[in-house]
Amino acid sequence: MNYFCAMRIDILTVVPQLLEGPFSHSILKRAQDKGLTEIHVHNIRDYSLQKQKQVDDYQYGGGAGMVMCIEPIVRVIDKLKAERAYSEIIYMTPDGEVLDQSMANQLSLGGNIIILCGHYKGVDERIREHYITKEISIGSYVLSGGELAAAVLVDSIVRLIPGVLNDETSALTDSFQDNLLSPPVYTRPEEYNGWRVPEVLLSGNPALVEKWREEQALQRTKDRRPDLLSNE
Ligand code: ADE
Repeated sequence: MNYFCAMRIDILTVVPQLLEGPFSHSILKRAQDKGLTEIHVHNIRDYSLQKQKQVDDYQYGGGAGMVMCIEPIVRVIDKLKAERAYSEIIYMTPDGEVLDQSMANQLSLGGNIIILCGHYKGVDERIREHYITKEISIGSYVLSGGELAAAVLVDSIVRLIPGVLNDETSALTDSFQDNLLSPPVYTRPEEYNGWRVPEVLLSGNPALVEKWREEQALQRTKDRRPDLLSNE
C-alpha cells in the first residue's frame, strides 16, 4: 500500500526518560516501523550553552518555582525549522485548549508538529508569544510536567494516520468519532458464571447487530455523556 509521507513529530523535553516507554510498544511502535510516522524526542538540556547545562532559572519578580529559559528552546526549534516545515508548534499546558477527538483528527491530517513539554513553573512567556502556534491541555488537572500529556496527544493523533491500525474502520468506530460513545463489546465464552452475551450478537444477522450497536451507543451516550449530544 502507498502512503504519501510520514508525519514527523518532534518532542522537546527536559526529562526525555519519561517518554522512553510510550512510543516503543504496540500501535505507536508499529506506526514507526511501518514508516507512517517518525517520533523524535529531544533533550532540551543538550541545547544549553551553560556550563552546568542549566535549562531553568528563577522567575523575575520573585516567587517559588523555576522557569524554563528561552535560549535552549529557541535553539532546538530553530534547528528543526531549518530542516523541514512544521504545521504547528504545540505547547502542552493546563491552560491550553482542551484536547478532544476533533482536534486529534485535525492534527492527524496536518503536517509535521513540534511539541514542547512544560516543566517546573512553565516556560518563559516569550516562547509562547513568539514560537508557539497552539497550546493544548489534556484535561482540567495539573500534571508534574507536559511529557505524559504529550504522550497522550501523540497516541490520539498517530492511531488516526491512515494505515496505522490494521482494520482502518476501527478508528472510525472509536468513541467520540460521531459524537457517540462506543457500544459494549463481548468475546468468548458465550456464557461465564451465568452471564450471557446478548443474543443478538450471536444471531449472525449483521443488520440486526448493527442496529443493536447503534441503539446501545446512543443509550450509553445519553446516560454517560449527554453533553456530546447537545453539542451537535
Ligand atoms: N502540563 C501539566 N498539566 C497539564 C495538562 N493537564 N495538560 C497538558 N499539559 C500539562
